[in-house]
Amino acid sequence: MNSQKLLTKVAAMLLLSLASIGTVTAEEGQLEVSADTFSCIRDMTRVRGFYVDNLKGDLDATLAVANSETGGIYPPGSVVQLVPGEVMIKHEEGYSPATKGWEFFELDVSEEGSEIRKRGFVDVVNRFGGNCFGCHIQAKPQWDMICEDTHGCETIPITKQVIDLIQRTDPRCKDNEELSASESYELFKLKLKVEVGTAIGTVKEMM
Ligand code: HEC
Repeated sequence: MNSQKLLTKVAAMLLLSLASIGTVTAEEGQLEVSADTFSCIRDMTRVRGFYVDNLKGDLDATLAVANSETGGIYPPGSVVQLVPGEVMIKHEEGYSPATKGWEFFELDVSEEGSEIRKRGFVDVVNRFGGNCFGCHIQAKPQWDMICEDTHGCETIPITKQVIDLIQRTDPRCKDNEELSASESYELFKLKLKVEVGTAIGTVKEMM
């Protein structure tokens, strides 16, 4: 073999091995998500009582499913939130079939931004000891694990009014309005419940 041919062969082998490293390290179908992915919930698009976005820029496709009266499969990149601290994100088709591609996130949010407290697929447990997947899988299949209040999931013990308050006071938003005295009181009661719930949840996890 002359040196030119050898060089071409070596270059080709190098390129091939580089290409295979690329596919091995980037987990196939997993979209990149970090704490910086998240920001003020109200910057997302509101659909009825919750908020959606799309990390791949395909918000129209996400909205089409969210607004459909008969349900549908959310497209990759979909982000769904009801409250600032809990998020579902849809990875590429075929990724994590057990959760239909959804990854669950529990965030700690503050004026400084978001921190990922927990993330994962079938085993993420929220601060009250509830498994995200365990509830969301109860949604009838046409709703693609989105619960709302009519899709068949076990209910959560907070009223629409309180959910609205939590959305209006997301600490990551710059333009939060002042709450009335009775609204502040409602929120205070909720925070107490969250603290007690978290304590019970922590004890459950320890056992
Ligand atoms: C006890 C059952 C239960 C658990 C546990 C639970 N959820 Fe939910 N979740 C619900 C219900 C019910 C709704 C709809 C509430 C409504 O719209 O009134 C909901 C709403 C949501 C929504 C808005 C979209 C939708 O499905 O309506 C997201 C996103 C979400 N939950 C994420 C999570 C994440 C992440 C976790 C875990 C960290 C979690 N949930 C744990 C029952 C649960």
